Amino acid sequence: MQTEKFELVPVSETLYIPLAARAAETNRDNPVITDRKSAEIISRIDTGGKITDGGNVSTHGIIARMKVIDDEVKKILEKCPDAVIINLGAGLDTRISRIDNGFLKWYDLDLPEVISVRRLFFNENERIRFISKSVLDPEWVNEVDITEGPEIIIIAEGLLMYFPEEDVVRILELLSGHFAKAHMFFDVIHSFFVNKKISSTFLWGIDNAGDIEKLSPRVKLTESWSTGDLLKNRQSLFFRIFNILPSTRNRSQILHIQFND
Ligand SMILES: C[S@@+](CC[C@H](N)C(=O)[O-])C[C@H]1O[C@@H](n2cnc3c(N)ncnc32)[C@H](O)[C@@H]1O
Repeated sequence: MQTEKFELVPVSETLYIPLAARAAETNRDNPVITDRKSAEIISRIDTGGKITDGGNVSTHGIIARMKVIDDEVKKILEKCPDAVIINLGAGLDTRISRIDNGFLKWYDLDLPEVISVRRLFFNENERIRFISKSVLDPEWVNEVDITEGPEIIIIAEGLLMYFPEEDVVRILELLSGHFAKAHMFFDVIHSFFVNKKISSTFLWGIDNAGDIEKLSPRVKLTESWSTGDLLKNRQSLFFRIFNILPSTRNRSQILHIQFND
């Protein structure tokens, strides 16, 4: 099969890691998800030797966060089928193909060169739109069509750890100022991993989920999940023992926050 090669900046090359993790999951016995779209996409890309496998711990965290966010978004969609979902740092994420209910509105935002690649594998329509801008460019919010009524759900999966804390604060201020009462789901790494690198260096992390409220007075933590508590049967004995250490149990956490008015 003809494969394609793309030139991406290092932070965007990180998109290959969750894509490959979802594709590999699909080929496992008893997979948490079956994601043929990810398997098809990765088979059509020549990653040119870029890192596609972050290792067992990273893969476990990716599959765990994907499952939590899928389940939580589906719960909101059951009550509000026409919710507006904004997927920040979308990369080649395939969630839309798993949860589209025919009523929701969906926005995928990423850097322009990544959206160009996304267009090769996904189509826009009247409910699914792409935003070809940096999340740090405040103009992007004007591309989201919001009306009174439907819930707004913001997802930032595998994104915020690549920004310094002052940029995370700017992003939260922009989101909370523009999307009052929105739900936001995202993963955070423990500060132990700051300045560590898989394919791009992690720049921000927090130790306790509640620390997120210190970043903005408009942020309210609703729920959090520690990766160490998730899919335990998929973790090595080492991790099952050392999950008693907060930095191990909370090596990555998934946060659900809401924005106050
Ligand atoms: C680890 S990947 C995650 C991709 C996707 N969310 C997933 O889970 O499959 C990180 C993504 O963040 C995007 N990204 C990095 N900096 C960004 C920025 N300033 N604005 C928008 N997206 C950005 C990258 O291009 C990349 O697609």
